[in-house]
Amino acid sequence: MSRWDQLNIFFNKTGAVVIFGLNALRGRTINSQGAAVGAWNSSNAESLIRYTVKKGYRIHGWELGNELSGNGVGTRVAAGQYASDTKSLQSIVQNVYAGFEAKPQVLAPGGFFDENWFTEFIHKTPQSLQVVTHHIYNLGPGSAGDLIPKILDPSVLDGISQTFKSLQSLLEKSNTPAVAWVGESGGAYNSGHNLVTNAFVFSFWYLDQLGMSASYDTKTYCRQTLIGGNYGLLDTNTSYRIRITTG
Ligand SMILES: *[C@@H]1O[C@H](CO)[C@@H](O)[C@H](O)[C@H]1NC(C)=O
Ligand SMILES: *[C@@H]1O[C@H](CO)[C@@H](O)[C@H](O)[C@H]1NC(C)=O
Repeated sequence: MSRWDQLNIFFNKTGAVVIFGLNALRGRTINSQGAAVGAWNSSNAESLIRYTVKKGYRIHGWELGNELSGNGVGTRVAAGQYASDTKSLQSIVQNVYAGFEAKPQVLAPGGFFDENWFTEFIHKTPQSLQVVTHHIYNLGPGSAGDLIPKILDPSVLDGISQTFKSLQSLLEKSNTPAVAWVGESGGAYNSGHNLVTNAFVFSFWYLDQLGMSASYDTKTYCRQTLIGGNYGLLDTNTSYRIRITTG
């Protein structure tokens, strides 16, 4: 808990709006097909949320899980199970913040868009979710040698528009009040590529992403990362100045 205390002192001093991702694998077992099965055990998350409220720390949103939607990355959780776990998280938030006028948002699933999975998930979370989060790494692996031509090719950049379009129409057609966010996006996965994703050329990718997100009604775009990898927004080589690549 001392690390959580230190982080919250930092959040408080910086005025950061914090979304905290909770471990959604607790209590599940991995079956022989590599899927995580069984219900989420929320007891540890609930303790953390209760402690956070007791200390007066401000958390804007609690997000359930990381990259477990669709085929997942590492492992996956079925949409129906995820919806029921999201409902559990929402009821914990409603309980713990009972006396609060403004309650934190509940966000999920924080994974890659998969039409069938997201359709079922959104259909089954009509009351329990404020934000549908999805992740984007549309340039492929950071180790690839052809990142610069991809960043400068409009047809490559447009390749991800179907994801935005499908999610927007899914939300419009369903009766959920939830909105879409890009919950994590760093362009090229595995930490990007030095002197590409931390250089001026990368601003073409980022500006295109911000414009595309806005045009498909995405309410917030969380950029991977503030510090770290080859795509950090703060340049640790130059006394933490914000890079020109932030666009
Ligand atoms: C959830 O985890 C807690 C603490 O580790 C444990 O005491 C409890 O029995 C678990 N609940 C279920 C339903 O497995
Ligand atoms: C930051 O410094 C390291 C070590 O000198 C260097 O390898 C890297 O290319 C620098 N990064 C940028 C973006 O200039």
